Amino acid sequence: MASELTKKRVLLVGDDASVRLTLVALLRGIEVDVFEATDAARGLQSFEAQKPDAVLIDLAMPGRNGLELLEEIKRRAKRTPVIVISGIDKIDDTIEALRRGAWDYLAKPIHDIATLEDAVFGTLEWARTMAHYPKPNESEDFSNEIEKRIRQLEMSRDRLRQTEKLRAIGQLAGGVAHDFNNLLGGISGYAELARLHVEDGSKPAKFLDGIVAMVRSASDLNSKLLSFSRMGPVKVVAFDINEVVRDVVDLISHSFDKKIEVEASVAHPPQFIRADMAQLESALINLAVNARDAMPEGGKLTMGTSRHTIARDERAPDEPPAGQYVRVIVRDTGVGMAPETVEHVFEPFFSTKEGHWTGLGLAVVHSAVEEMGGYIRVESAPGQGTTVALFLPPYSK
Ligand SMILES: Nc1ncnc2c1ncn2[C@@H]1O[C@H](COP(=O)(O)OP(=O)(O)OP(=O)(O)O)[C@@H](O)[C@H]1O
Ligand SMILES: [Mg+2]
Repeated sequence: MASELTKKRVLLVGDDASVRLTLVALLRGIEVDVFEATDAARGLQSFEAQKPDAVLIDLAMPGRNGLELLEEIKRRAKRTPVIVISGIDKIDDTIEALRRGAWDYLAKPIHDIATLEDAVFGTLEWARTMAHYPKPNESEDFSNEIEKRIRQLEMSRDRLRQTEKLRAIGQLAGGVAHDFNNLLGGISGYAELARLHVEDGSKPAKFLDGIVAMVRSASDLNSKLLSFSRMGPVKVVAFDINEVVRDVVDLISHSFDKKIEVEASVAHPPQFIRADMAQLESALINLAVNARDAMPEGGKLTMGTSRHTIARDERAPDEPPAGQYVRVIVRDTGVGMAPETVEHVFEPFFSTKEGHWTGLGLAVVHSAVEEMGGYIRVESAPGQGTTVALFLPPYSK
C-alpha cells in the first residue's frame, strides 16, 4: 500500500464528467492523488499549482484543446509524462499527440483498473528512469518506443476503416439479401408450378429442373450474405469452446479426404466463452474448409484452443489489445498466401479460387468474431501454411 509520502499525484483534465468520474474512482483504487480540471485553461492553472507527477488529458475536449494543452505542458515541463485518453473516433488526434510528446494513450471506454494502473505506473517509472539515469541514447530509445506506438495505432486505424467498410457492405448486402430471398421464393415457386404442367423427361422439364437447382444455389449464397450482415437469428449462451472444437474436428475428420490429417489440441481446463454457438461452429468450419482447399496434396490441419494473455508492454504491433483471451487457432500446412492476398482476405467476394466459391467465407468469420467482441488475425507465407487465430473474450461466471 502506498504511503501518503510516496503517493503519486496525477492531474486529470477532461470536460466529460462521466469519464472523469470513472477515472477518478479507478485512480483512487490504485492509490494516487487525483486533481481534476474541466477544461484546458483550468488544467494549465492546476498544472502550475499542483506540479503533478503525471497528467491525463481527455482528447474529447472541444476542438484541439487537448493537443494544445499537451504542447503547453511539454513546453513548461518536458519531463512530466502525459497520457492521452481517446475514443476510436480520435485516432488521428492520438497519433498526433504521440508525435507531440505524449508518452502513452488509453482507449475509451476504460473500465479495467489493470490497464490504467499499467499506463500510469509504467509512465511514471519511465519518467523516473529518464530523470535519474539519463543514458546517452535515451532520446533514441524514447523515439523508437514512440514510433512503435504510432505504428500500432496506425494499424488499428486502418483496421477500423476496414471494419467500417465491411459493416457498410454488410448492411447493404443484408438489405438486398432480404428482398432477394422473396424474389427467389417466387421464382422457384413458379418454376415448380410450371413443372407440374410439363411431361417428365421432356426438354422443358429438364430446363425447369435446372432453374429450381440454380435457385437453390442462389438461396445458399443468399443465406451467407444474410449471416455476413448479421441479420440471421443470434442465440448467445455461455459454453466450453473445447467441446465445439472437438465436435468440429470430429465432423471434418470424417468428411475430409484422408490425405489430410486432422488434429485437435485443446487447452485444459475448459475454456468458457459467451457467444452464438452455431455462429462459432460455422466460423470454424469455414476456416477448416479454407485449410482443406489450401492442401490439395494433403497435409495437416490443427485446430486448437489455449488461454492467452497479451501484456501491454510485450504486445507485438499486430496483436489485439492487451488483455486475457481464449485463443482458437486453425493451422494448416498448405500453400499459404502472399502478403498481398492476406491483405484482402476479409473483403467480401474476395476469392482466388475458381469455380463455385463466393469469397464470403472469411468476411462472415470476421463479422462473427467481431460480434463476439473478439479479434481475428491471419499469419501466412507462400509455401509455409496458414494460421488463423481468433482471440475471444473469456467468460467467467
Ligand atoms: N488457409 C488458407 N490458405 C491459403 N489461402 C487461404 C486460406 N484461407 C483463405 N485463403 C485465401 O483467402 C481467400 C478468401 O477466403 P474466403 O474463405 O473468404 O473465400 P473462399 O474460400 O474463396 O470462398 P468461400 O466464400 O466459398 O469460402 C481464398 O480464396 C484464398 O485465396
Ligand atoms: Mg472459404
